[in-house]
Amino acid sequence: MNAALIDVATRMPKAELHIHIEGSLEPELIFALAQRNGLTLAYPSIAALRAAYAFTDLQSFLDIYYAGASVLLTEQDFYDMTWAYLERAHADHVLHAELFFDPQTHTARGVAFAMVVDGIHRALADAHQKWGMTGGLIMCFLRHLSEEEAFATLEQALPYREKIIGIGLDSSERGHPPEKFARVFARCHELGFHLVAHAGEEGPPAYITTALDLLHVERIDHGVRCIDDPLLMQRLAREKMPLTVCPLSNIKLCVFEKMSQHNLLTLLDAGLMITINSDDPAYFGGYLNDNFVAIIEALPLQRQHLQQLARNSFSAAFMDEGIRQKYLHQVDAFFAA
Ligand code: HPA
Ligand code: ZN
Repeated sequence: MNAALIDVATRMPKAELHIHIEGSLEPELIFALAQRNGLTLAYPSIAALRAAYAFTDLQSFLDIYYAGASVLLTEQDFYDMTWAYLERAHADHVLHAELFFDPQTHTARGVAFAMVVDGIHRALADAHQKWGMTGGLIMCFLRHLSEEEAFATLEQALPYREKIIGIGLDSSERGHPPEKFARVFARCHELGFHLVAHAGEEGPPAYITTALDLLHVERIDHGVRCIDDPLLMQRLAREKMPLTVCPLSNIKLCVFEKMSQHNLLTLLDAGLMITINSDDPAYFGGYLNDNFVAIIEALPLQRQHLQQLARNSFSAAFMDEGIRQKYLHQVDAFFAA
Protein backbone atom coordinates (compact mmCIF):
# COMPACT_ATOMS: atom_id res chain seq x y z
CA MET A 1 0.00 0.00 0.00
CA ASN A 2 2.75 2.40 0.97
CA ALA A 3 4.71 1.45 -2.12
CA ALA A 4 1.75 2.34 -4.35
CA LEU A 5 1.24 5.69 -2.58
CA ILE A 6 4.96 6.45 -2.75
CA ASP A 7 4.88 5.73 -6.47
CA VAL A 8 1.97 8.16 -6.91
CA ALA A 9 3.53 10.87 -4.75
CA THR A 10 6.92 10.73 -6.43
CA ARG A 11 5.47 10.87 -9.96
CA MET A 12 2.66 13.39 -9.44
CA PRO A 13 3.08 16.93 -10.82
CA LYS A 14 3.89 19.36 -8.03
CA ALA A 15 5.21 22.80 -7.12
CA GLU A 16 7.81 23.64 -4.48
CA LEU A 17 7.19 26.91 -2.62
CA HIS A 18 9.58 26.79 0.35
CA ILE A 19 13.19 26.10 -0.58
CA HIS A 20 16.10 28.28 0.52
CA ILE A 21 18.42 27.99 -2.43
CA GLU A 22 21.48 28.32 -0.16
CA GLY A 23 20.06 25.31 1.71
CA SER A 24 20.41 23.17 -1.42
CA LEU A 25 24.21 23.48 -1.32
CA GLU A 26 25.46 19.90 -0.88
CA PRO A 27 28.75 19.31 0.99
CA GLU A 28 30.37 18.09 -2.25
CA LEU A 29 29.54 21.39 -3.97
CA ILE A 30 30.65 23.40 -0.90
CA PHE A 31 34.07 21.75 -1.15
CA ALA A 32 34.22 22.13 -4.94
CA LEU A 33 33.36 25.85 -4.76
CA ALA A 34 35.80 26.41 -1.89
CA GLN A 35 38.54 24.90 -4.05
CA ARG A 36 37.51 26.92 -7.13
CA ASN A 37 37.57 30.12 -5.07
CA GLY A 38 40.80 29.33 -3.17
CA LEU A 39 39.06 29.22 0.21
CA THR A 40 39.89 26.98 3.18
CA LEU A 41 36.99 25.50 5.09
CA ALA A 42 36.85 24.91 8.84
CA TYR A 43 36.06 21.23 8.14
CA PRO A 44 38.83 18.88 6.93
CA SER A 45 36.59 16.74 4.69
CA ILE A 46 33.14 16.34 3.12
CA ALA A 47 32.41 13.60 5.66
CA ALA A 48 33.41 15.84 8.56
CA LEU A 49 31.14 18.60 7.29
CA ARG A 50 28.23 16.21 6.86
CA ALA A 51 28.86 14.83 10.35
CA ALA A 52 28.32 18.34 11.74
CA TYR A 53 24.72 18.29 10.48
CA ALA A 54 23.32 17.23 13.85
CA PHE A 55 21.05 20.06 14.86
CA THR A 56 19.24 20.71 18.12
CA ASP A 57 17.18 23.71 17.03
CA LEU A 58 16.89 26.37 14.34
CA GLN A 59 19.88 28.42 15.52
CA SER A 60 22.25 25.43 15.59
CA PHE A 61 21.34 24.84 11.94
CA LEU A 62 21.60 28.50 10.88
CA ASP A 63 25.17 28.76 12.20
CA ILE A 64 26.31 25.95 9.84
CA TYR A 65 24.06 27.09 6.99
CA TYR A 66 25.60 30.57 6.94
CA ALA A 67 29.11 29.06 7.10
CA GLY A 68 28.30 26.81 4.11
CA ALA A 69 27.01 29.75 2.08
CA SER A 70 30.32 31.59 2.55
CA VAL A 71 31.87 29.69 -0.39
CA LEU A 72 29.53 31.47 -2.85
CA LEU A 73 31.36 34.35 -4.50
CA THR A 74 30.68 34.59 -8.24
CA GLU A 75 27.64 34.66 -10.50
CA GLN A 76 28.67 31.21 -11.75
CA ASP A 77 28.70 29.88 -8.15
CA PHE A 78 25.09 30.98 -7.67
CA TYR A 79 24.18 29.54 -11.08
CA ASP A 80 25.81 26.16 -10.34
CA MET A 81 24.12 25.87 -6.95
CA THR A 82 20.71 26.74 -8.42
CA TRP A 83 21.12 24.48 -11.44
CA ALA A 84 21.99 21.51 -9.20
CA TYR A 85 18.78 22.10 -7.24
CA LEU A 86 16.65 22.52 -10.38
CA GLU A 87 17.91 19.24 -11.82
CA ARG A 88 16.91 17.46 -8.60
CA ALA A 89 13.55 19.22 -8.59
CA HIS A 90 12.91 18.29 -12.22
CA ALA A 91 13.66 14.64 -11.40
CA ASP A 92 11.05 14.89 -8.60
CA HIS A 93 8.38 16.11 -11.09
CA VAL A 94 8.48 19.66 -9.76
CA LEU A 95 6.94 21.80 -12.52
CA HIS A 96 7.13 25.12 -10.66
CA ALA A 97 9.69 26.25 -8.05
CA GLU A 98 9.78 29.45 -6.02
CA LEU A 99 13.24 29.96 -4.58
CA PHE A 100 14.07 31.89 -1.42
CA PHE A 101 17.42 33.62 -1.34
CA ASP A 102 19.17 35.57 1.45
CA PRO A 103 21.09 38.47 -0.16
CA GLN A 104 22.26 39.86 3.19
CA THR A 105 24.28 36.68 3.83
CA HIS A 106 26.27 37.51 0.70
CA THR A 107 26.39 41.30 0.51
CA ALA A 108 27.73 41.33 4.11
CA ARG A 109 30.76 39.39 2.74
CA GLY A 110 31.31 41.88 -0.08
CA VAL A 111 29.54 39.86 -2.81
CA ALA A 112 27.67 42.15 -5.20
CA PHE A 113 23.88 41.89 -5.17
CA ALA A 114 23.96 41.40 -8.95
CA MET A 115 26.05 38.20 -8.67
CA VAL A 116 23.43 36.64 -6.42
CA VAL A 117 20.28 37.55 -8.36
CA ASP A 118 21.73 37.14 -11.84
CA GLY A 119 23.18 33.69 -11.15
CA ILE A 120 20.01 32.28 -9.58
CA HIS A 121 17.78 33.89 -12.20
CA ARG A 122 19.85 32.62 -15.13
CA ALA A 123 19.50 29.03 -13.87
CA LEU A 124 15.71 29.43 -13.57
CA ALA A 125 15.58 30.85 -17.10
CA ASP A 126 17.55 27.84 -18.39
CA ALA A 127 15.17 25.44 -16.59
CA HIS A 128 12.26 27.19 -18.26
CA GLN A 129 13.89 26.87 -21.64
CA LYS A 130 14.96 23.25 -21.18
CA TRP A 131 11.91 21.73 -19.43
CA GLY A 132 9.23 24.46 -19.42
CA MET A 133 9.67 24.72 -15.65
CA THR A 134 8.21 27.92 -14.19
CA GLY A 135 9.17 29.69 -10.99
CA GLY A 136 10.47 32.80 -9.37
CA LEU A 137 12.76 34.34 -6.79
CA ILE A 138 11.63 35.42 -3.32
CA MET A 139 14.08 37.70 -1.55
CA CYS A 140 14.19 37.11 2.22
CA PHE A 141 15.15 39.62 4.88
CA LEU A 142 17.16 38.16 7.76
CA ARG A 143 15.02 38.83 10.81
CA HIS A 144 17.96 38.79 13.25
CA LEU A 145 19.15 41.98 11.50
CA SER A 146 17.43 45.37 11.78
CA GLU A 147 14.53 46.76 9.78
CA GLU A 148 16.89 49.52 8.67
CA GLU A 149 19.17 46.90 7.09
CA ALA A 150 16.14 45.33 5.41
CA PHE A 151 15.27 48.74 3.92
CA ALA A 152 18.84 49.06 2.60
CA THR A 153 18.59 45.60 1.02
CA LEU A 154 15.29 46.53 -0.60
CA GLU A 155 16.99 49.60 -2.09
CA GLN A 156 19.70 47.36 -3.58
CA ALA A 157 17.02 45.07 -5.04
CA LEU A 158 15.10 47.76 -6.91
CA PRO A 159 17.24 47.68 -10.10
CA TYR A 160 16.43 43.93 -10.23
CA ARG A 161 12.70 44.39 -9.57
CA GLU A 162 11.73 42.34 -12.64
CA LYS A 163 13.71 39.32 -11.46
CA ILE A 164 12.08 39.10 -8.01
CA ILE A 165 8.45 38.04 -7.49
CA GLY A 166 8.20 38.28 -3.74
CA ILE A 167 9.61 39.14 -0.34
CA GLY A 168 10.00 36.79 2.63
CA LEU A 169 11.30 36.80 6.19
CA ASP A 170 13.60 34.10 7.56
CA SER A 171 16.44 33.29 10.00
CA SER A 172 16.17 33.23 13.82
CA GLU A 173 12.48 33.45 14.69
CA ARG A 174 12.31 33.66 18.48
CA GLY A 175 12.72 37.22 19.73
CA HIS A 176 12.32 38.64 16.21
CA PRO A 177 8.55 38.98 15.73
CA PRO A 178 7.00 39.95 12.39
CA GLU A 179 6.05 43.43 13.66
CA LYS A 180 9.75 44.36 13.66
CA PHE A 181 9.42 44.49 9.83
CA ALA A 182 5.96 46.06 9.44
CA ARG A 183 7.17 49.25 7.73
CA VAL A 184 9.50 47.59 5.23
CA PHE A 185 6.83 45.03 4.33
CA ALA A 186 4.34 47.89 3.79
CA ARG A 187 6.82 49.44 1.36
CA CYS A 188 7.30 46.09 -0.43
CA HIS A 189 3.51 45.83 -0.75
CA GLU A 190 3.38 49.29 -2.35
CA LEU A 191 6.05 48.14 -4.79
CA GLY A 192 3.83 45.24 -5.84
CA PHE A 193 5.82 42.32 -4.44
CA HIS A 194 4.11 39.17 -3.21
CA LEU A 195 4.64 38.80 0.54
CA VAL A 196 5.38 35.73 2.70
CA ALA A 197 7.00 35.19 6.12
CA HIS A 198 8.31 32.35 8.24
CA ALA A 199 6.11 32.20 11.34
CA GLY A 200 5.15 29.55 13.85
CA GLU A 201 8.11 27.25 13.12
CA GLU A 202 9.68 27.63 16.58
CA GLY A 203 7.91 30.87 17.44
CA PRO A 204 4.44 31.12 19.00
CA PRO A 205 1.11 31.19 17.12
CA ALA A 206 0.95 34.93 17.88
CA TYR A 207 3.72 35.41 15.28
CA ILE A 208 1.43 33.85 12.66
CA THR A 209 -1.33 36.28 13.60
CA THR A 210 0.95 39.32 13.42
CA ALA A 211 2.44 38.13 10.11
CA LEU A 212 -1.13 38.11 8.75
CA ASP A 213 -2.40 41.29 10.36
CA LEU A 214 0.69 43.51 10.35
CA LEU A 215 2.76 42.22 7.42
CA HIS A 216 -0.26 41.24 5.28
CA VAL A 217 1.45 38.13 3.96
CA GLU A 218 -0.18 35.84 1.39
CA ARG A 219 1.36 32.62 2.71
CA ILE A 220 2.84 31.49 6.03
CA ASP A 221 6.10 29.53 5.86
CA HIS A 222 5.95 26.59 8.31
CA GLY A 223 3.05 27.78 10.53
CA VAL A 224 2.74 24.39 12.26
CA ARG A 225 2.54 25.96 15.76
CA CYS A 226 -0.96 27.19 14.81
CA ILE A 227 -2.04 23.89 16.39
CA ASP A 228 -1.72 25.62 19.80
CA ASP A 229 -4.45 28.16 18.92
CA PRO A 230 -7.74 26.58 17.73
CA LEU A 231 -9.25 29.93 16.73
CA LEU A 232 -6.22 30.73 14.59
CA MET A 233 -6.48 27.29 12.98
CA GLN A 234 -10.12 28.01 12.12
CA ARG A 235 -9.11 31.36 10.66
CA LEU A 236 -6.34 29.83 8.52
CA ALA A 237 -8.82 27.28 7.16
CA ARG A 238 -11.52 29.90 6.53
CA GLU A 239 -9.13 32.25 4.74
CA LYS A 240 -7.53 29.38 2.78
CA MET A 241 -4.19 30.73 3.94
CA PRO A 242 -1.43 28.49 2.57
CA LEU A 243 1.08 27.01 5.02
CA THR A 244 4.32 25.86 3.39
CA VAL A 245 5.12 22.92 5.67
CA CYS A 246 8.56 21.26 5.63
CA PRO A 247 8.35 17.83 7.28
CA LEU A 248 12.00 16.66 7.24
CA SER A 249 13.14 20.12 8.35
CA ASN A 250 10.77 19.99 11.33
CA ILE A 251 12.24 16.67 12.46
CA LYS A 252 15.89 17.72 11.97
CA LEU A 253 15.31 20.97 13.90
CA CYS A 254 13.39 19.16 16.64
CA VAL A 255 10.08 20.98 16.06
CA PHE A 256 8.57 17.46 16.32
CA GLU A 257 10.42 14.55 17.83
CA LYS A 258 9.32 11.94 15.24
CA MET A 259 7.55 12.12 11.88
CA SER A 260 4.68 10.06 13.32
CA GLN A 261 4.05 13.05 15.64
CA HIS A 262 3.94 15.62 12.83
CA ASN A 263 0.65 17.51 12.70
CA LEU A 264 0.44 18.12 8.93
CA LEU A 265 -2.28 15.51 8.38
CA THR A 266 -4.33 16.89 11.29
CA LEU A 267 -4.05 20.36 9.75
CA LEU A 268 -4.88 19.07 6.27
CA ASP A 269 -7.95 17.20 7.56
CA ALA A 270 -9.01 20.36 9.43
CA GLY A 271 -9.22 22.07 6.04
CA LEU A 272 -6.00 24.10 6.09
CA MET A 273 -4.23 24.75 2.78
CA ILE A 274 -1.13 22.65 3.56
CA THR A 275 1.71 22.29 1.06
CA ILE A 276 4.79 20.04 1.37
CA ASN A 277 8.29 21.47 0.83
CA SER A 278 11.95 20.69 1.44
CA ASP A 279 13.19 23.95 3.12
CA ASP A 280 16.97 23.21 3.08
CA PRO A 281 17.25 19.84 1.35
CA ALA A 282 21.04 19.47 1.54
CA TYR A 283 20.92 19.84 5.32
CA PHE A 284 17.70 18.08 6.28
CA GLY A 285 18.02 14.71 4.57
CA GLY A 286 16.23 15.12 1.32
CA TYR A 287 14.52 16.84 -1.56
CA LEU A 288 10.80 17.20 -2.17
CA ASN A 289 10.05 13.56 -3.00
CA ASP A 290 12.08 12.43 0.02
CA ASN A 291 9.69 14.53 2.12
CA PHE A 292 6.69 12.81 0.54
CA VAL A 293 8.20 9.37 1.16
CA ALA A 294 8.89 10.26 4.81
CA ILE A 295 5.35 11.45 5.51
CA ILE A 296 3.72 8.51 3.70
CA GLU A 297 5.79 6.09 5.76
CA ALA A 298 4.93 7.76 9.08
CA LEU A 299 1.37 9.06 8.71
CA PRO A 300 -1.91 7.49 7.51
CA LEU A 301 -2.07 9.50 4.29
CA GLN A 302 -4.50 8.42 1.57
CA ARG A 303 -4.41 8.88 -2.17
CA GLN A 304 -6.86 11.81 -1.98
CA HIS A 305 -4.54 13.58 0.46
CA LEU A 306 -1.77 13.40 -2.15
CA GLN A 307 -4.06 14.87 -4.79
CA GLN A 308 -5.01 17.65 -2.37
CA LEU A 309 -1.35 18.37 -1.58
CA ALA A 310 -0.44 18.49 -5.28
CA ARG A 311 -3.40 20.80 -6.01
CA ASN A 312 -2.57 23.00 -3.00
CA SER A 313 1.00 23.46 -4.19
CA PHE A 314 -0.27 25.07 -7.40
CA SER A 315 -3.21 26.87 -5.77
CA ALA A 316 -0.78 28.57 -3.35
CA ALA A 317 1.82 29.47 -6.00
CA PHE A 318 2.47 32.95 -7.36
CA MET A 319 1.63 32.46 -11.04
CA ASP A 320 -0.77 33.63 -13.74
CA GLU A 321 -4.26 32.17 -13.43
CA GLY A 322 -4.06 30.58 -16.88
CA ILE A 323 -0.90 28.69 -15.98
CA ARG A 324 -2.38 27.69 -12.62
CA GLN A 325 -5.45 26.20 -14.31
CA LYS A 326 -3.23 24.29 -16.73
CA TYR A 327 -1.24 22.79 -13.84
CA LEU A 328 -4.38 21.95 -11.82
CA HIS A 329 -5.78 20.12 -14.86
CA GLN A 330 -2.49 18.25 -15.12
CA VAL A 331 -2.80 17.13 -11.50
CA ASP A 332 -6.41 16.01 -11.92
CA ALA A 333 -5.57 14.17 -15.18
CA PHE A 334 -2.70 12.38 -13.40
CA PHE A 335 -5.03 11.21 -10.61
CA ALA A 336 -7.81 10.25 -13.05
CA ALA A 337 -5.49 8.00 -15.04
N1 HPA B 1 13.82 28.81 9.21
C1 HPA B 1 14.27 30.06 9.26
N2 HPA B 1 15.23 30.52 8.50
C2 HPA B 1 15.78 29.71 7.60
C3 HPA B 1 15.36 28.41 7.48
C4 HPA B 1 14.32 27.93 8.31
O1 HPA B 1 13.89 26.76 8.29
N3 HPA B 1 16.11 27.86 6.49
C5 HPA B 1 16.94 28.81 6.04
N4 HPA B 1 16.76 29.94 6.71
ZN1 ZN C 1 12.48 27.99 5.58
